[in-house]
Amino acid sequence: MSDDTLDHGSSIRSATEEDFDRVLDIDRHSFSAPWIHSFFKSALDDIFLVFEKETEIAGYLIACVCYDLEKAVILRIAVHPDHRGKGIAKELIRRCLDILTESNIKIVELDVELIQREAIRLYEKFGFRIANVIVFPSGTPGDEETFYVMRLELP
Ligand SMILES: CC(C)(COP(=O)(O)OP(=O)(O)OC[C@H]1O[C@@H](n2cnc3c(N)ncnc32)[C@H](O)[C@@H]1OP(=O)(O)O)[C@@H](O)C(=O)NCCC(=O)NCCS
Repeated sequence: MSDDTLDHGSSIRSATEEDFDRVLDIDRHSFSAPWIHSFFKSALDDIFLVFEKETEIAGYLIACVCYDLEKAVILRIAVHPDHRGKGIAKELIRRCLDILTESNIKIVELDVELIQREAIRLYEKFGFRIANVIVFPSGTPGDEETFYVMRLELP
């Protein structure tokens, strides 16, 4: 995919292995269970977009596509804490959905933990709706982990 310049010296492009130091750093700042290098390496075979502001990567999105089923799953999206609240996640999702629409994908799904309210709001803005609820029991009552499976149908 070629670069596509956005406003204010920003662009979204496909990731390369040279981006991994920064992507791993953003991941560590964003998730309690960060991914390891090899997970990101495998993701280079999928849709793996980075948002670059000036020359610094501010966020990334990874989605895998099953062309046979006309279905995609957004696996990971994160924006560095210093760059949140500026519309970067929205730009990454918009670009991803454009790519999926062009590829004739009809269904996009993702998992989001119930407590990630800002992420849920973000996905709802694009029309994602809760399709399923998954509860992972824990040893402690009231300490279960609840996830939503959110789904979007593309035209
Ligand atoms: C979720 C995340 C990717 C959002 O990135 P972002 O670039 O700050 O998001 P945007 O600026 O594009 O905001 C998009 C929408 O998300 C929602 N949102 C973002 N930050 C929010 C906050 N702090 N509180 C409430 N809603 C918020 C809003 O609906 C916002 O739309 P609006 O600006 O029109 O109100 C970022 O907070 C992050 O990396 N979090 C940690 C990792 C994570 O939770 N990933 C999602 C896993 S499912």
